[in-house]
Amino acid sequence: MIQKFVYLTRVYYFSAAHRLHSPKFSEEENRRIFGNCSNFKGHGHNYILEVTVSGVPNSLTGMVCFYRDLDKIVEEKIIVPWDHRHLDEEVEDFKGKLSTGEVIVRLVWDKLCICLEGVKLSKIKLWETSTSFFEYQESASKTMLKLDNLI
Ligand code: NI
Repeated sequence: MIQKFVYLTRVYYFSAAHRLHSPKFSEEENRRIFGNCSNFKGHGHNYILEVTVSGVPNSLTGMVCFYRDLDKIVEEKIIVPWDHRHLDEEVEDFKGKLSTGEVIVRLVWDKLCICLEGVKLSKIKLWETSTSFFEYQESASKTMLKLDNLI
């Protein structure tokens, strides 16, 4: 039987400050590697976060999932703790990590992956600027579709 997967993407916004600066490098190395992004006081971004889930639409609702449920999880796990914060200085998720777009996109995946039930997390896309975005996806997600358990 062919399962007809459908993808649903929701878009979220948060603003945050960060500074790319590793204690493993000297000041000079940090400047060389991270450029202006290592400036002492940090800088901010208006991040755009795209979360894509997929599944076979429920036979009764015609939906992959209730997007309000997804919104609630993203709000709780990402937006509320990160929005209008200095990621490196205020947010526990970034302790011991560099807040690069690559790291952020992986963190979002890991935080959401364990929360989703009945739907597969398919892709995370994070816009850091209008010219840079980061994407992460896994082909074999641990979060697998459970058919018709959405209502
Ligand atoms: Ni930056």
